[in-house]
Amino acid sequence: MTGEPHVRPRDGVAVRASGIVVVRGGRDVLDGVDANVLPGRILAVTGPSGAGKTTLLWVLAGLLQPDGGSVEPRDRSSHAAVVFQGYGLLPMLTAAENVELPLQLHGVVRAEARTQAQDCLARAGLADVPERLVEELSGGQRQRVAVARALAVAPALLVADEPTAELDADTAAVVFRALRAEADAGAAVVLATHDDELAAQCDATVHLVDGRVQP
Ligand SMILES: Nc1ncnc2c1ncn2[C@@H]1O[C@H](COP(=O)(O)OP(=O)(O)OP(=O)(O)O)[C@@H](O)[C@H]1O
Ligand SMILES: [Mg+2]
Repeated sequence: MTGEPHVRPRDGVAVRASGIVVVRGGRDVLDGVDANVLPGRILAVTGPSGAGKTTLLWVLAGLLQPDGGSVEPRDRSSHAAVVFQGYGLLPMLTAAENVELPLQLHGVVRAEARTQAQDCLARAGLADVPERLVEELSGGQRQRVAVARALAVAPALLVADEPTAELDADTAAVVFRALRAEADAGAAVVLATHDDELAAQCDATVHLVDGRVQP
């Protein structure tokens, strides 16, 4: 069906992280952090630069094995999509091709992947640049391609690292609505942000300072 992603089921994954410790460069960049990400909900991770937000998101996504503590379930990374802080797009491909790629890796045929990619780009507020190369896009446009790519696989766990950092308020609201729609569809969503207004619209907040959760 046009516009309906194929790679559901969308039973969100509840992720429970307890006592997470991550050691980098000989010091604890996360020091006993607890965080729960729930299906149907958006968890905000806030805190100053260097507080450990990206590190915690990577642990929650299953991309980084912590040095201490536990995360359940263990087999969650294949159900996750990540909006990376540096986007992680392929610059020699177009916006649409970047979004199509994970769909094709999931076995969606090219024409259907193209249709779904267009839909995801539109949901991320970026309907007008599908054929432009990533290297020809602005920072904010690239950020929305990264969001669209994450939406494309209809993830059970959506991890978004400062997904609105480069966006004006109106465009940020479009992106947040897309993330909210993912949660409403059953995904467990976690986002890192410096934006207090955005965090206030989330369902729960973990505030990090120097790798520890502040009450
Ligand atoms: N490979 C590394 N070696 C040493 N220290 C590291 C490494 N990677 C990250 N760090 C340190 O870990 C801490 C947490 O980094 P992290 O990227 O999680 O912070 P952040 O809260 O996401 O910051 P920002 O808001 O700037 O994105 C920082 O002090 C950083 O310098
Ligand atoms: Mg970060």
